[in-house]
Amino acid sequence: MSIIYDEKQKTISLHTKNTTYQMQIDRYGFLLHLYYGRYAEGCMDYLLTYYDRGFSGNPYEAGTDKTYSMDSLPQEFPSLGTGDYRTPACIIKNTDRTYCSDFRYVTHTIREGKYSLPGLPAVYADDSEAQTLEVVLEDPVTGVLAVLLYGVLPEYDVITRSVKIVNASKGYISVKKLAPACLDLVGGDYDFLTFYGRHAMERNCQRMPVGHGTSKIGSLRGTSSHQYNPAVILAEHDATEDAGSCYGMAFVYSGGFQSEAGKDQYSQTRLLMGFSEEQFAYPLNPGEDLQSPEVIMTYSGEGLAKLSQNFHRCIRTHLCRGKYKETVRPILINSWEASYFDFTGESLLALARQAADLGIEMFVLDDGWFGNRDSDLRGLGDWKVNEKKLGCSLGELITKINGMGMKFGIWIEPEMVNEDSELYREHPDWAFVIPGRRPNRSRYQLVLDFSRKEVVDYIYEQICAVLDQGNVEYIKWDMNRSLADIYSATADSQGRVLHDYVLGLYDFLERLVNRYPNILIEGCSGGGGRFDAGMLYYTPQIWCSDNTDPIDRLEIQYGTSFIYPASSVGAHVSASPNHQTRRVTSMKTRGMVAMAGTFGYELNLNELGEEEKDEIRRQIAEYKKYAALVQRGTYYRLTNPQTDNQGAWEFVSEDQREALVQVVGIKKHANMTVDYIKVKGLKENTMYRDTETGRLYNSTALREAGVPKPVLEGEYQAYQWHFVCED
Ligand code: GLA
Repeated sequence: MSIIYDEKQKTISLHTKNTTYQMQIDRYGFLLHLYYGRYAEGCMDYLLTYYDRGFSGNPYEAGTDKTYSMDSLPQEFPSLGTGDYRTPACIIKNTDRTYCSDFRYVTHTIREGKYSLPGLPAVYADDSEAQTLEVVLEDPVTGVLAVLLYGVLPEYDVITRSVKIVNASKGYISVKKLAPACLDLVGGDYDFLTFYGRHAMERNCQRMPVGHGTSKIGSLRGTSSHQYNPAVILAEHDATEDAGSCYGMAFVYSGGFQSEAGKDQYSQTRLLMGFSEEQFAYPLNPGEDLQSPEVIMTYSGEGLAKLSQNFHRCIRTHLCRGKYKETVRPILINSWEASYFDFTGESLLALARQAADLGIEMFVLDDGWFGNRDSDLRGLGDWKVNEKKLGCSLGELITKINGMGMKFGIWIEPEMVNEDSELYREHPDWAFVIPGRRPNRSRYQLVLDFSRKEVVDYIYEQICAVLDQGNVEYIKWDMNRSLADIYSATADSQGRVLHDYVLGLYDFLERLVNRYPNILIEGCSGGGGRFDAGMLYYTPQIWCSDNTDPIDRLEIQYGTSFIYPASSVGAHVSASPNHQTRRVTSMKTRGMVAMAGTFGYELNLNELGEEEKDEIRRQIAEYKKYAALVQRGTYYRLTNPQTDNQGAWEFVSEDQREALVQVVGIKKHANMTVDYIKVKGLKENTMYRDTETGRLYNSTALREAGVPKPVLEGEYQAYQWHFVCED
């Protein structure tokens, strides 16, 4: 039993293999949070303290007891209006136009299996792998319910949380703020780790102390965004990769979000994750409900590496779906950086022929194949194959590419429209534009109103008509601007549109994965602008960044690795000098960095010399050797490329018999000092052989003293060790 209700103590404990989460229904029916941390049994309500504190009010039924205050007690689902003046998880505007919600315990149920969420992505599990706790809270005055859901996956040290607001009151209400996950920690000093960035430089890790006042990150863009990722970590001040307590929250959602962390007046920490409050006011008529997306939570008492590994395992095996979830993904060549919009059917076939000759397994036709799309000025929305440009039908092109022994994949951007398109001329009201205002343009395009079913249905039909023209085995689903000018002609309230947009997107994707179960979908939003756990439910890999420079990628992939598994990280070898940074790097360095994700190429192969082509052939053979280890192995960060001389990481097989350690030099100095790379996750005091050199190493010494990275000539040199257990 992973969920235990103690009738006497009124505690509910959620146990996983290594962690325990505990709450208590207290004497007034408030649901208090008691404990989240290492596995522990018994009742932890001794952690609650009661003192008479100035300006911290008391619920009426506490009578003359001035020591009982919601302003200081740790809670599971704090709402505005109970006397808790900290940042609430929920704000509801009631029928009487007040903003008070006073949720009290009504009942709870425990059941086998993991709950699912209609219309939303969510972690899934067999009945034997998970349990669900449902706690019903009610505001006794309005009758509004908050139904808290907890999914417990013991083997994964994961607890998920979602909440449903049910309007069981007699009138119209509006949900102004909703954060399904709240974590109140009564003691301790924590750092807030967030992943900030920009287009082409996503998910830089920032670690800052949680102070008094609230640190808030989030996205107002209608998507999870390049600027902040919807996943955060609270780590003890002195927590490292290998030691210390840390808590992670990953939002399984692709729309606007916010996460808030702060210390209250008594130095207690609160962490929240939920919908972005801006432009959010979700209307509920009597009988209607709003189900929030879920948050994946995990705790590690053994530092950040273990925390990340918990996320990786859960996301890879219980969130990603479909045929390619566990299979090694095909090595692809993408046409974008090879020729951008400038191609013909002949030039595509020439690229494909060269790719096939090198051993590449799939050809991906990127932007520019449809409508009038010879530049980004026009064409989005017109999903008709440009046969004139291709010189043949799509079906014929695919047949030719299949004939070369390669799979075929195609780029789409279904959520968008250019003003210069047939679709926009016919349905100008389908794009987000506020009547009477001129819209914000971004990359010359507008966003289609996916909160409207007829818009989703129409685009879905157009896209299916393309996919049905041949043997398409891969889709790159792109999304190249942020939402603005939110106005939906048919909505009863504009405060619902941003969330309904995401629901429309998920509805489209769900239909697509069901209709084409054999197609691998790669998510993309100008690279990693929508790299989140929500998208990974539909697209098991996401183009990590439009920046393919391997040295910048060290940092981008480092930040990404805190939450997301390598199997989800789209990474390609591109040209040198790099198109984004003009940096010159070797094919070896580019290959090694791309091999730490779902591997592919994105450059004009026909411009390469014979030597480089041979190198690619060797690279492909090598990748095939290690692909399963990269995709399923346990991941360790060995350095911090944001501050260290090297970017280094490691994949260890589940049985710990094999490890791949990869390192890329960043800074180069004269008369170099030597960097020692400390190798992790191997069996204790066991001999391992480096298969490249044949040299034997002791695993404990590898961890404690490290292995010297050879000082190689030139900048940005890559090196790797492949260790195999000797016994
Ligand atoms: C985005 C993607 C790129 C490419 C272009 C095509 O920027 O991230 O990989 O597909 O769009 O327009």
